[in-house]
Parts: sequence; C-alpha cells; structure tokens
Amino acid sequence: MFERFWLEKARQALGGNAGSDEIVLEKMRSRVAELSDLFTKERPAVFKDYMSDPALLAAYGLFFFPQSFARASFAARRLLDFYGRVPADLSRVRILDIGSGASPCGFALAAALQKKFEGVPVEVCCLDRSRAALEAARELAGTQKNLFFRSVPADLQNLPPLQFDASFDFIVLGWSLNEIVPATGKEPLERALVLLKKLSPALKADGTLLVLEPALKETAERLQRVADYFVRNPGLPYYRVAPELGQHPDPHLAAGDHEMWTHDVRTWEAPPTLEFLNRKLFRDISVLKFSWSAFGKSPAVLPAVPAGTLGYFRLVSPVELTKPALRFAVVDAAGTRLQIEWPTRGLSKSDCKKMAARFERGDVVTLAGELKALGRDFRLQGEMRAVPDDFGEK
Ligand SMILES: C[S@@+](CC[C@H](N)C(=O)[O-])C[C@H]1O[C@@H](n2cnc3c(N)ncnc32)[C@H](O)[C@@H]1O
Repeated sequence: MFERFWLEKARQALGGNAGSDEIVLEKMRSRVAELSDLFTKERPAVFKDYMSDPALLAAYGLFFFPQSFARASFAARRLLDFYGRVPADLSRVRILDIGSGASPCGFALAAALQKKFEGVPVEVCCLDRSRAALEAARELAGTQKNLFFRSVPADLQNLPPLQFDASFDFIVLGWSLNEIVPATGKEPLERALVLLKKLSPALKADGTLLVLEPALKETAERLQRVADYFVRNPGLPYYRVAPELGQHPDPHLAAGDHEMWTHDVRTWEAPPTLEFLNRKLFRDISVLKFSWSAFGKSPAVLPAVPAGTLGYFRLVSPVELTKPALRFAVVDAAGTRLQIEWPTRGLSKSDCKKMAARFERGDVVTLAGELKALGRDFRLQGEMRAVPDDFGEK
C-alpha cells in the first residue's frame, strides 16, 4: 500500500527525471543489494546511518519496508488476538517505535489495531537517529486516517536516558535492537537488557514491548537469551508474554542445541515492486523469516485450552513431508520439546502436501487425540490444528 510513495522517493533520489517506474526500479537495484549485504553478510559493529542517504532510504522503503510491515503485522495480530494484549483504554492508543526508520512496525501495529477496533485513534511516536527517515514516516502518517504522529530524533548509541512518561500501550523495536546494540559486540546480552529496561518507564502497566529481530542465528539467539532473562527474573521489570506459551526458558538454549534458534517462517505476497527488484537479486522473498518476543509489566494471560485437546503447542520446526508421516517439533507450555510424527497412511501425496501446507513454523497449534511415545519421539494419533487469528487468514 506504500509502494507509490517509495517509488516517488526513489525517483526524487535519482534526480527527478529518471524515467518510467521500471527504469527507477532498475536503477535502485544496486542500492537494495548494498543494503541486503549490509544486513546479512557484513553486519558491522557500528552501522552507518544509511537511512539519511536518500537513495538508500528509498531502497529500504521499496524492499525492506514492506517486509517489516508484514512481519510486524503478523506479530501484532497474534498479540491482539491470541495473547490478549489489548489496551484497556481504547480512546487513543499510543505506540512508541524505537529505531523506527519510516515506521513500518508502528504503522503495522496501528493498522492491526484499527482493523480490530474500527476507527480507534492511534498515535505513533517515532524515535530514530535519521531525520530523513522520520520525515518519511511523518509524510506516510499524513496519508492514514485517525493516525497521529510525533517524532523524536535521537541517537541511542551510548544508551542515553530516555524521557517519556508511562503512557505507551506498545513499544516496538523492529530490526533496530541489533543495530543499536550489536548482537556480536561487547556484552551483547547485558547491553540489550540495559536498553530494554530503560524503556520500561515509558510503558503502561498493561502495555506490551515487542521486539522483532532478523532470523539470523546470532540475533535470534540473543533475543531468546533476553527472553530467558525475564523468565528467570519475572517482573524485573518485564514478564515474557509471547510467543512462548508458558514461563519456561527456551529448551534449545538450555540443551545447548545451537542449531535450533527459534524463529517464524511465514508465507506472504510480496508487492509487485519488490518482486520486480528481486528479479535480478535472487533473494528468497517467498517467505518471511524473523524472530520476535514480547514483554509486559504483567504476566501473559492465555486463552483457555480448548476442550478435547491436549493443549497449546508452538511449532518450532518446518513440517516435513516424509513417506508415512508428517514430522515436526513442538514446544509445550511447560517448555518441553517434543519431536512428533503424524501418520499419513492412506492419504494421497497431494492430500499430504495440503495437510503440511496448513502449518507454518512459529504457529500455535492444538493437538487432539493421543501422543504415543516411540523411544524419545512421539506419534500423534489424532489431529493437529493451527490456531487462527481473528482475521481468518489461516
Ligand atoms: C534495520 S532498520 C529498521 C527500521 C524499521 N524499524 C523497520 O522495521 O524496518 C534500523 C533502524 O534503526 C535506526 N538506528 C540504528 N542505530 C540507531 C541509534 N544508535 N539510535 C537511533 N536509531 C538507530 C536506523 O536509523 C534504522 O532506521
């Protein structure tokens, strides 16, 4: 929905008369590649202020902004629909977006709230070191209904104190924690905790702090360690509220299984401009991979376990299609990881594929029937169902 905006930003960055949309996109491709390499291969100890370069800001807008928006939308819907993180006061919902860039995450939260609670006024307050990105966010906010905008230019490099009153329903850090506090730098866990704790005075008692990070091993694993810290130190100042289903440490970290860092893998429909850019970039844009965690000053209250089921579980692996069964791993509310096979005997290959396609890594699922121990693994004799969100997307 923001494609036209970013195309025009790209055109301006190229001098205003670059030609057709296709030519603009062709010319932006090298900038997208530069950013993509920065985020995935180079990952410097200190990121340059790429958002203040008009061409890189536009490249981000065309290629990464839609992905951030879609990923954050997914987490936002889950928080509102499954984890019950609905603000008590809906007269004006306030969101603080830290390292906002042009605020895809702030706008995604706002859109999810306005979809669920039609017409609810939402204020998005963006903090970033890049004034150019904040200006783009301001322009975008101006195109949306019932959206109020505020911006705070600030550099959080040395984790300065933040002056906000406790008035935010949501605070979001979308792919910014790892830039403000690198996951591989000095004391990565401690410094991340310092930053997140500094944000606590700005969060309402029933508010939610949402952190989204790349699904790279070092960033996802650090976020998991952060979440584990709040599980071990509940209420100091946060409780972990999502996406796990109970107050348990991550079983993969606890077992030293460093090949299993928890993350979501979600299918989506990339906008045409992004598809076009990717024609010669060959990045995998068919799915969105990301890790996320949410925290609050009050513990999570999950919906009651549906009658007739064995409870809620989180799918932490792909669902693999092998000949006699679907195979996957889940973590239960107590934090136990279960490796499960679900027999498919008698089903055609296409039915098995359809069955597997009903699930995505990161889903909350219910299991019904019986889990029979098979050595260290389990066989499901029954049903698995993904928990849908209100918007009927599953
Ligand atoms: C990968 S971008 C993410 C932007 C946006 N949140 C999103 O989800 O697409 C990281 C953002 O963090 C900002 N940032 C990085 N270091 C920062 C710092 N020390 N202080 C404030 N903002 C910073 C960058 O300017 C950039 O906008």
